[in-house]
Amino acid sequence: MEINGKTRTCGLIGDPVEHTLSPLIHNTLAKLLGHDLVYVPFLTKGGEAEVEKAVQGAHALNILGLNVTVPHKEHVMSALTEIDKLAEQIGAVNTLVRTAHGYKGYNTDMTGLYRAMRSEGIQIKGEEIVLLGAGGAARAVAYMLCSYGAQRVYLLNRTFDKAERIAQEVHQALGRTCIVPMRTEEHDKLPSGEYLAIQGTSVGLFPNCEEVIIEDSTFYQRIHTGYDLIYRPSNTKFMRLVSQAGGKAYHGLKMLLYQGIDAYELWNDVTVSEKLAEAVYQRMKKELEIDE
Ligand code: ATR
Repeated sequence: MEINGKTRTCGLIGDPVEHTLSPLIHNTLAKLLGHDLVYVPFLTKGGEAEVEKAVQGAHALNILGLNVTVPHKEHVMSALTEIDKLAEQIGAVNTLVRTAHGYKGYNTDMTGLYRAMRSEGIQIKGEEIVLLGAGGAARAVAYMLCSYGAQRVYLLNRTFDKAERIAQEVHQALGRTCIVPMRTEEHDKLPSGEYLAIQGTSVGLFPNCEEVIIEDSTFYQRIHTGYDLIYRPSNTKFMRLVSQAGGKAYHGLKMLLYQGIDAYELWNDVTVSEKLAEAVYQRMKKELEIDE
């Protein structure tokens, strides 16, 4: 692209940022939509004070929007002038949208996960769902599922206390009981029926590709759809066990795609078509050498 005096800038703050796919997502969208916009990574070291300076500096430099990644997603919140309700409840922000006096924070990781699931025809409203894990990622997913109307979320974790704490927090924030905290090994106590299962732990992440949170094949016989938040590798052991038991299995790359698309739409006040989303997705798969 040709950069000129009117080119708008968006970017990513985090540490590290070297391996991010976000520039590929946003610069491809800008190119395909004919927008005069460039997206760059900004390695941002330090803690809350340094991030606050970075956010103020970005506003002074007329930067249109920022994504925020590890380790700044939580402490960036104090640098914002406004925070979207879902992001506030989750307690983590990954997208900053420019306003007159500062930035408004959103969590497009979760709206993106919702959209990725919907694009695969996966239903959340009214569903009974098994969520594996109670770390930062699973906590956000628990909020998202309950906010989008899941009937019940069985939250299974090795450390029961963490699952219990998330359940209490979500129930208090949303004013409705929807989470049942359980120990992972109690999966055989799930009520009868078939479930959508979301794998939200770090178990199975590259290079530990042969690890999985639950090995027991009887668990997988009850899973009609398995969604792994992991996309490296793109065929996790969790996904293989779901498939072997006859369920549909998905990796998390579309979540990454749609968190980017949701951010791009917020920055540019446009709607990205499914056709365009697919074109960007193909480029991401090529970059990661995923060919299914
Ligand atoms: P993230 O930000 O990716 O969610 P995290 O907050 O460190 O990372 O959470 C990691 C999740 O993976 C937790 O649910 C953790 O279980 P505990 O809460 O019991 O620690 C889970 N996890 C990680 N390694 C695990 C292992 N070897 N066996 C079982 N669960 C594991």
